[in-house]
Amino acid sequence: MRLANKIALVTGGAQGLGFAIAKTFAEHGAKVVITDLQVELGDAAAATINQQFNDRCRFIQQDVTNEERWQQVVEETLGSFGKLDILVNNAGIALTASIEDETLEGWRTTQAVNLDAVFMGTQMAVRAMKKNGGSIINISSIEGMVGDPKIPAYNASKGGIRLLTKSAALYCAQEGYAVRVNSVHPGFIRTEMVEKGLDSVGPEAWDMVQQAIPAGKLGIPEDVAYGALYLASDESTYVNGSELVIDGGFLAR
Ligand SMILES: NC(=O)c1ccc[n+]([C@@H]2O[C@H](COP(=O)([O-])OP(=O)(O)OC[C@H]3O[C@@H](n4cnc5c(N)ncnc54)[C@H](O)[C@@H]3O)[C@@H](O)[C@H]2O)c1
Repeated sequence: MRLANKIALVTGGAQGLGFAIAKTFAEHGAKVVITDLQVELGDAAAATINQQFNDRCRFIQQDVTNEERWQQVVEETLGSFGKLDILVNNAGIALTASIEDETLEGWRTTQAVNLDAVFMGTQMAVRAMKKNGGSIINISSIEGMVGDPKIPAYNASKGGIRLLTKSAALYCAQEGYAVRVNSVHPGFIRTEMVEKGLDSVGPEAWDMVQQAIPAGKLGIPEDVAYGALYLASDESTYVNGSELVIDGGFLAR
């Protein structure tokens, strides 16, 4: 019960990493609000968590690109549970197009979901947490640290999260808020986002990725969830503005 009495909000929690993070938080005693664009999947995700962990989860539909909705979601969470201790900015998209092929629309959509939303969530969470403290966890990527020729918009958005996180962390420290802001940088983890991307290229893409990972295999969502659990818990009280890479050794080469 590493998160007993904590209230958490996890965006993009209907599936993939967000779902694994929400489930792990509930397993450790937190009450968790998950939000997502996908209503059916979100309801099902909350029901699955509630079956296992005694009514600790609630789903709220949210488009993270909408500022007004962000306000409502934070207010609803505070209204239902009285406080917010943990925010995981996890919702994200990955569109593939090289710098020559990417459109301005694709670029802007990517920044809206992956970066603007993390800005809005971080800002609102800092305001909600500054009295009593809290932990904000921004899901970036290894692609926020190294370049990839096929995803310039994703690279830029995830690199942006990395430094937005540090700026917010420094601001909170400067103001004397007990609010910590850290980023998580997953490598290749088996979720719909990665599986669809690799499938669209073919079996050679799977072989290539597996060979490139020192661990010899892709990660699973729980690998990332346990990292988020540490950052969410009071065990990481002295960890602020840091980057947690969870990638099977990919960036160590
Ligand atoms: N899977 C990986 O290997 C990997 C690696 C590095 C980083 N990441 C990051 O982790 C996060 C989760 O990725 P995933 O692999 O679980 O992806 P996923 O596609 O399985 O899940 C993403 C979730 O975000 C939701 N979402 C998308 N746009 C939204 C919006 N506008 N508002 C609200 N919800 C929205 C989707 O409905 C979906 O449920 C993303 O930010 C992704 O960039 C994933």
